[in-house]
Amino acid sequence: KVLGSASAAALVSAHSTAASAAPVELRFPKDFRWGCATAAYQIEGAVKEDGRGPTNWDVFSHTPGKVVGGDTGDIATDSYHRYAEDTQLLKNLGVSTYRMSLAWSRIFPEGRGKPNQKGVDHYNKVIDNLLANGIDPYVTMFHWDYPAALPGGWQNRDTAKAFADYAGYMAGQISDRVKNIMTVNELRCFTDLSHKVGIHAPGLKLPDAEVNQVRHHGVVAHGLAVQAIRAHAKAGTQVGIADNTVFYVPVMETDDHVAAAKKATREMNAMFLTAIMEGRYIDEYLTQEGANAPKVQPGDMEAIASPLDFLALNIYAPEWVRADDSPRGYATIPHIPSSPHMASPWLIVGPEVAYWGVRQVSELWKPKVLYISENGASADDPLQNGRVDDADRVMYLRNYVSQFHRAVAEGYPLKGYFLWSLLDNFEWADGYSKRFGIHYVDFKTQRRIPKLSAAWYKEVIRQNRVV
Ligand code: NOJ
Repeated sequence: KVLGSASAAALVSAHSTAASAAPVELRFPKDFRWGCATAAYQIEGAVKEDGRGPTNWDVFSHTPGKVVGGDTGDIATDSYHRYAEDTQLLKNLGVSTYRMSLAWSRIFPEGRGKPNQKGVDHYNKVIDNLLANGIDPYVTMFHWDYPAALPGGWQNRDTAKAFADYAGYMAGQISDRVKNIMTVNELRCFTDLSHKVGIHAPGLKLPDAEVNQVRHHGVVAHGLAVQAIRAHAKAGTQVGIADNTVFYVPVMETDDHVAAAKKATREMNAMFLTAIMEGRYIDEYLTQEGANAPKVQPGDMEAIASPLDFLALNIYAPEWVRADDSPRGYATIPHIPSSPHMASPWLIVGPEVAYWGVRQVSELWKPKVLYISENGASADDPLQNGRVDDADRVMYLRNYVSQFHRAVAEGYPLKGYFLWSLLDNFEWADGYSKRFGIHYVDFKTQRRIPKLSAAWYKEVIRQNRVV
């Protein structure tokens, strides 16, 4: 009886303590950088203006059957002309940074040769406009659109050299104002999706040996570009890559599964980030590919492993893995049809990948500085009475940002987050059918309408915490 009333009292006091306790706030460090991301071909339009040369994506999107609805990037969000308006959207959000890409074919319409000053002038205007509004631009040199005149595209090793020359040249032009430069965006997409799966430009389905060679040219291009940027940029320019490393999430947080997941992440990215961070193709990859392994020339691996100032990750969907007693020690779990996903079927919702991605990369390779160069979601976005209440996107973002917070709170060197995307835009093979923006774009009038998610993000930034 005595015991009984004692424990009843304990429950009550526990209850009243909980009710009066301050809520746990997921607050970010003062200098955490919040931003939005976009890419040239997805927003610019103006594909024939000021001397821009045609690109792989112009050719592909104009090929019937390649893009949903026959959509092209000819106009996109018309940001080539409306960049100042877009800057005001950013300013209104309160972001301190903006990640954008340059269109290679505006600078070198044929991929190499004499630079087109009008292209350079355009980006100078965009950059100056951002800076005048207190927004620090992070620039990606290659976000998938390359000059169609380059013979063989990424199948040709010479493209890597042409890319480095372009990246070095542009670093020389902008690094007096742009402090952070990324070489390429998402190695796996412009290699595999474009040359193996065939759903992105140029739409090829090559045999394994050729795919591996394209992947190799991709990482060589990145490495040569790092060197060229360093050779031409102002001292102190920070150089990195924006990669969509595939991350394996442990099915439960126990030592065996955690270790298995980290091993899977290292091995499954052997041809991309693992090669860049370790300076070699690991044995697991070489053994698996056998005679199909890439042909490597002397000096390639040194270039690929050029030291980086920061590593940026595009993190969207998880892969799951569990420890098992096979020789490699893990089993990946194929996608399960009942997994929750956003409007894009590939965009499985698994916020823990945000935490595990940051942690695994930090433990495996100890980068000095990490950014999330992209995270965001497609949603069906009902436009009603001039409003878009995209509560599902807000839910997605809040869950992922909470997991990034966990990584920051545990001390991993994550310094900033770029939300994909500032506004709805040309979503590659999905055309305009999938919306990723926190601003709704009416593609007929080009009117931009902030969605509920924009209000949410603005409040996150204002309070510097998850809301
Ligand atoms: C990755 C790409 O970098 C970007 O271009 C794309 O629109 C988003 N993810 C969403 O799929």
